[in-house]
Amino acid sequence: MPELCVIEGDGIGREVIPAAVRVLEEVIPALEIARAEAGWECFQQRGVSVPPETLEAVRACGAALFGAVSSPARKVSGYRSAILTMRQELDLYANIRPVRSWPGISPRDDVDLIVVRENTEGLYSGRERQNGDEAVAERVITGRASRRIGRCALDLCARLGRGRLTIVHKANVLPVTDGLFRDSVRAVAGEYLARGAALEVDELLVDIATLKMISEPQRYDVVVTTNLFGDILSDAAAYWCGGMGYAPSINLGEHTAVAEPVHGSAPDIAGRGIANPTAAILSGALLARHVWGMEAAAARIEAAVEASLREGQPGTTRGVLEAVLRGL
Ligand code: IPM
Ligand code: MN
Repeated sequence: MPELCVIEGDGIGREVIPAAVRVLEEVIPALEIARAEAGWECFQQRGVSVPPETLEAVRACGAALFGAVSSPARKVSGYRSAILTMRQELDLYANIRPVRSWPGISPRDDVDLIVVRENTEGLYSGRERQNGDEAVAERVITGRASRRIGRCALDLCARLGRGRLTIVHKANVLPVTDGLFRDSVRAVAGEYLARGAALEVDELLVDIATLKMISEPQRYDVVVTTNLFGDILSDAAAYWCGGMGYAPSINLGEHTAVAEPVHGSAPDIAGRGIANPTAAILSGALLARHVWGMEAAAARIEAAVEASLREGQPGTTRGVLEAVLRGL
């Protein structure tokens, strides 16, 4: 039986995640649910943003659905972002961020791409320091992590029948680090191609890749890139699905996965029942597709979301949930 650890987090996470869980329970009645805490409120109460038992619960279930967490505006000693902690502690090395056109809300109707973002190193290595007037952040790239994310992207292409992989990097300015990333992904791609993978592999520098994300997003199929470039490029791409309210993601590790809507905890609208749960619901579908091997369940959820958008979604969390449930 699939097991799910539900972590609502802060702000609108407490509204959108229950809606997404409701949809999952409807589509996968056998789903077993555990609950755990993480986030800013959790830090304020317990002095830690992700308690050890939360990590244990996610490990035990193998899958989590995570809402959103607030972060303090100033540096708070001892506080570390809950999602960054989970990515690192659980070695969730791949962040899969699909972006597709949806009826009624997307500015164009021909976008269907997936950003595969390396999720453990790069400028997120946490190695930042200051010495007087000089501040330095170390951007760590390893061949191991680059090959691993390359394999993940190539397997994804094979599994989902995707025909083109674009490697995004900045090897003209960072020939050592991004040269290693590019060459490592290319080497892995070479192995897949030698084994007969039906795939076109190309590459773009991140600046021109960003221009093309704006001017011709339909050219993209699967994009693989380093951590910060993937962070930025996936937000830019999310414009095409209708914005953050419709952008799901899943953080994948070897044995563990954490799905999360890309949006934040939106404290300004929290508690009012007006947060759109669509990104959370679509993140649930990603668990079905990428973790539980339930493609039909994932497709069913996405079709119901599509139907609700065709109808025109109401402006409340509950209204959207009911529209999606009707569409199942
Ligand atoms: C994301 C977010 C996080 C990131 C923040 C909240 C640390 O922007 O999931 O894209 O930078 O990865
Ligand atoms: Mn981001």
